[in-house]
Amino acid sequence: MDKKTFYVTTPIYYPSDKLHIGHSYCTVAADTLAKYKRLRGYDVRFMTGSDEHGQKIERIATSLGITPKEYVDKVVAGIKDLWASLDITYDKFIRTTDEDHVAAVQKIFKTLYDKGDIYKSEYEGWYCTPCESFFTEHQLVDGKCPDCGRDVERVKEESYFFRLSKYQDRLIKYIEDHPEFIQPPSRQTEMIANFLKPGLEDLCVSRTSFSWGIPVTFDPKHVIYVWVDALSNYITALGYGSDNDELFKKYWPADVHIVGKEIVRFHSIIWPAMLMALDLPLPKQIFGHGWLVIDGGKMSKSKGNVVDPKVLIDRYGLDAVRYFLLREIAFGQDGNFTNEALIQRINSDLANDLGNLVSRTVGMIDKYFGGQLPAEHAETEFDADLKSVAADTIVKFEECMDKMLFSDALSALWVLIRRTNKYIDETQPWVLAKNEEDMPKLAGALYNVAESIRIVSIMLQPFMPKCPKAIHKQLNIEGTDLTDWENIRIWGLLPKDLKVEKGPALFPRIDMKKELVELEAAIKAAQAENLANKAKHEAEEEKEEEKASEITIDDFDKVHLVTGEVIASESVKGSKKLLKNTVKVGNEVRTILSGIAKYYTPEEMVGKKVVIVENLAPRKMMGEMSCGMILCAADKDGNLSLITDDKQFESGCDVR
Ligand code: ME8
Ligand code: MG
Repeated sequence: MDKKTFYVTTPIYYPSDKLHIGHSYCTVAADTLAKYKRLRGYDVRFMTGSDEHGQKIERIATSLGITPKEYVDKVVAGIKDLWASLDITYDKFIRTTDEDHVAAVQKIFKTLYDKGDIYKSEYEGWYCTPCESFFTEHQLVDGKCPDCGRDVERVKEESYFFRLSKYQDRLIKYIEDHPEFIQPPSRQTEMIANFLKPGLEDLCVSRTSFSWGIPVTFDPKHVIYVWVDALSNYITALGYGSDNDELFKKYWPADVHIVGKEIVRFHSIIWPAMLMALDLPLPKQIFGHGWLVIDGGKMSKSKGNVVDPKVLIDRYGLDAVRYFLLREIAFGQDGNFTNEALIQRINSDLANDLGNLVSRTVGMIDKYFGGQLPAEHAETEFDADLKSVAADTIVKFEECMDKMLFSDALSALWVLIRRTNKYIDETQPWVLAKNEEDMPKLAGALYNVAESIRIVSIMLQPFMPKCPKAIHKQLNIEGTDLTDWENIRIWGLLPKDLKVEKGPALFPRIDMKKELVELEAAIKAAQAENLANKAKHEAEEEKEEEKASEITIDDFDKVHLVTGEVIASESVKGSKKLLKNTVKVGNEVRTILSGIAKYYTPEEMVGKKVVIVENLAPRKMMGEMSCGMILCAADKDGNLSLITDDKQFESGCDVR
């Protein structure tokens, strides 16, 4: 019989020269799930990758004086290197600059266009480049990006649009009919209440103001919106839209897309709507995990508070880092990262509970039996309870893993670890060792402890790539079927005359006080290096922007500035902002609407000598035509002050 398939993905990451521990969190979680499913016998496909197009990347590359492709090639190598150091065992790493991805995305875009789900129009609104997101005026918070709080840019471009609005009702129904689709449930409520119920607008899906993206084949001055490009990765990486779509047929629909909470919106609205438009099945689940925060705020490069995972791996090893991430933070919720909590977990859970259990067990078998148990065992009164806790733990652990409750799975496992330590205290091998007639009991007790350790080590495997292997080596069962998942349920598989080999401590205890000082210094040093790089990038970026914003005298000559005298002014019906001014410019009189009602009354306006842009194309505002623009100074809070003519010349003078 064919194995059951399991397809899990992480988001594809924006290429960055420094991914931080927050980024690692998502990938470690997905990798743990993939490893678990493999152990459970699934045919797993685990995919991650990099999201390489878009204005943000183009700008960074320009500021560094290299091409976008050169930039992404360099940093993607660093990302792969980080994943290797965390033992992330992906089956494929997709890059959105891969040729087959590019071709498949172009095909998807064309298909949607031919179907009428993509159409051409004009976009005017706000764009947040760091988030690569469009916003309407009312979505902005204090004029800033509602997601990251940074400045947004006004954009107005001829664009293609995706008929997202058409799928609104189908999406609501689908989400309501499939409560497991968006997890955890709080995210589902949020999507419906904040995005779907207020109504979806069609989505702008092409840009013309920059070129680092996938060109629209039938209109190549347009590049495809990066989220359409990025989301498609989940199917293009399986060969969808290529000559060979075997993997697609085998693995699609995905079992779960694991993503951070801030991008659940893209995955549970835009992506399903695209799939509906393509007549493809939807992924079975979108899981939105929380953030790793530092002092309550999101870890971010621009805040300079990032923790470099390499620093932690170097000091404590990848097992400890992976364990900490998934144990300390309930998957789905935000969790605070602190150095104390990390060291505390290593000391208490890993060094004390687990490491100690293994070393004292192997140590006692060594001490009392020269490293090999005799085959004759006797029972103790504590055996039954130990075995029943082991059996319960397996059930609980599997239940939690199937729901991606990683932290709960680990805490269930630690119940067994602590119970086993307690069993040693109960059976008191050091007392049994004193009487020759208690030798079978001593052998039986140590055997049971070893058996429990074997079972624990099997469940640890998805979380820790190294420590279970080290345990297997000490128990002499490395690479045998005694480490198979299905053999977790059978008590007593270790040979009765078990031979052990003492190994180094699995997790050496750390001196908390001393280590806190050193760790702090190591993190700060990595941050300083990071900030120095960032300052360099920014300085270069600024220079680039200044250059781009310089104009020539010819450019300036195109703007005709003249003086005018306001001879009448009135408020505009229905507008709190606008005043309708009648302005005399030499012999001519014109109407100019101006957004200054908050700063000047109509009475104050009359008689003012002002500076106007004379050759501005006429525009209609609130149903009135406005010809020209009155110039004002704006302070940092946006208060306006009219620019006037100091010597009060006759109106109609050139301003130059
Ligand atoms: O969003 N804690 O890429 P990205 C937890 N390219 N998770 C964090 C985190 C933190 N402090 N910081 C980042 C993108 N992440 C797009 C995705 S998918 C078609 C395109 C997580 O590099 C974040 O939540 O900004 C996201 O899931 C992942 O890192 C990649 O973020
Ligand atoms: Mg992000």
